[in-house]
Amino acid sequence: MSLKFTLNGALHRLDVDPSMPLLWVLRDELNLTGTKFGCGIGQCGACTVHLNGTAVRSCLLPAASIANAEVTTIEGLADIGMAAVQDAWIAEEVPQCGYCQVGQIMTAAALLKANPNPTEQDIEKGMGNLCRCGTYNRIRKAIHLSAASLPAPESEPVPESPSEEPTP
Ligand code: FES
Ligand code: FES
Repeated sequence: MSLKFTLNGALHRLDVDPSMPLLWVLRDELNLTGTKFGCGIGQCGACTVHLNGTAVRSCLLPAASIANAEVTTIEGLADIGMAAVQDAWIAEEVPQCGYCQVGQIMTAAALLKANPNPTEQDIEKGMGNLCRCGTYNRIRKAIHLSAASLPAPESEPVPESPSEEPTP
């Protein structure tokens, strides 16, 4: 299958088996090895990337589902204005072994895009990636720090009110 999609801002065309998981398209076909393989069954979140701005588990997603879509991986996160999340991870010294952290950052970035100022409950509900090293407290701190450092989202332009009809 010839796939056309946008990856980290660049248009790609690729001939792949449509059932190949996106994770292997990224790692094996495109040599983007930042995204990690953990469980392979959608449980751990190590393989998280963004599909049209939403966090998805790329180990379960067939290549066919990215046709004409926009995919962002950790390699392109700074280009969508989310470098502050990576900076916060460094500032809070989040990683231990580090294996899960790309997935954690990608999930956190999608959460912050949708909700720029999440509460503890929002973080609890919106994350769900596993960390065998137990870095959850530092992840929460880094998400709050990211929220404080990210530029405020641009507000929607207010449409001009229609000019009043002249009264007869
Ligand atoms: S490797 Fe995809 S969820 Fe674990
Ligand atoms: S930092 Fe080791 S698994 Fe999360």
